[in-house]
Amino acid sequence: METIEAVIARSLTAKSTELLPYLPYILQDLWELGASPKDVIELITKHIPVSANTQVLDLACGKGAVSVNLAKQLGCHVKGIDIMPEFIDYAIEKAKAYGVASLCAFVVGDIRASVQVEQHYDVVILGAAGDVLGHPATTLNSLKKTVKQHGYIILDDAYGIDDNDNSHPTKRQWLEIFDKSGLKLLAEKIIDEDECIALNQVQQACILKRVNALKKRYPDKVELLDGYIKSQQDECALLENDIYGVTMLLQKDDHDETLDSVQLKRG
Ligand SMILES: C[S@@+](CC[C@H](N)C(=O)[O-])C[C@H]1O[C@@H](n2cnc3c(N)ncnc32)[C@H](O)[C@@H]1O
Repeated sequence: METIEAVIARSLTAKSTELLPYLPYILQDLWELGASPKDVIELITKHIPVSANTQVLDLACGKGAVSVNLAKQLGCHVKGIDIMPEFIDYAIEKAKAYGVASLCAFVVGDIRASVQVEQHYDVVILGAAGDVLGHPATTLNSLKKTVKQHGYIILDDAYGIDDNDNSHPTKRQWLEIFDKSGLKLLAEKIIDEDECIALNQVQQACILKRVNALKKRYPDKVELLDGYIKSQQDECALLENDIYGVTMLLQKDDHDETLDSVQLKRG
C-alpha cells in the first residue's frame, strides 16, 4: 500500500511529502479546500429530503467548510473525518463560531479505515479527495457501504473531455462506472468557469503570500516551495482548460436494495 503521507500530499496537490509539515501554514487563510459548500447544499436541498435526523458523513472533510455550512443551513448532523489534525482543529473552531458545534463531530482519522466501519448514514460526501480511496469504482463501492438503502453519495471530482485520456473519466465513462456500481446519477453541478477562475485567483494569492514568507524563513526550501506553487498553478490550469470540475449526486439503486434485502432475509 502507498504511504499515507504520499496519499495526503497528492490530495492537496503537493508533489512531495516533504511539503506536508508546511501545508497547514500555507493554507491557513483558506477555509474551502475543494468542494463548493454552495453547490453541495444546492444539490442536497433540491433532491434530498433533509430533517433534523439526517446523518451526513463528510470524508476527507478538510477544514470543515462543507460540513459546517451544511449543519448551519440545513440543521442536519454531520460527522467530518480528516487525517490532518490542524484541519480538524480549525473545523471544530468554525463549528463553534457558527453555533453548530452540537450538530458537528469532527475527528482525525484515515478515511481508508473509516469506510470499513462507518455505516447507515443518509448521505456521504467525498469532496475533492481524488484517489485517496482508490480508483473510481473502488471509491464508489467503499462509499456505498457507508450509506443506508436509498442512501446518497455526493462526489466532487471532474469530467475529462477526451475518452482516450486516462487521467479523468469522461461523463460517459463515469456513467458506465455508476451503472456497474449499482448507482444512479440523480443530478450534477458543473463548476461555473468564471467562478472557477475567480476562486483560483483568490486562493493562489493567499497561498503565494504564505509561500513567500516561508521562502524567506527557510532559504534552503525555496525549490520545494516553488514546486508547490507550480503544481497549484498546473492544477488551476487543468481545471480551467482541460476538465470540468463537477459535484455529482448519486443514489444507491433498487438492484442493490434487493440484494441487501435478500441478504438480510437469509441472514
Ligand atoms: C483537497 S482537500 C479537500 C477537503 C474538503 N473535502 C473540501 O472539499 O474542502 C483533500 C483532503 O483530503 C484529506 N486526506 C487525504 N488523505 C486522507 C486520508 N487517507 N484520510 C483522511 N483524510 C485524507 C487531506 O488532509 C485534505 O484535507
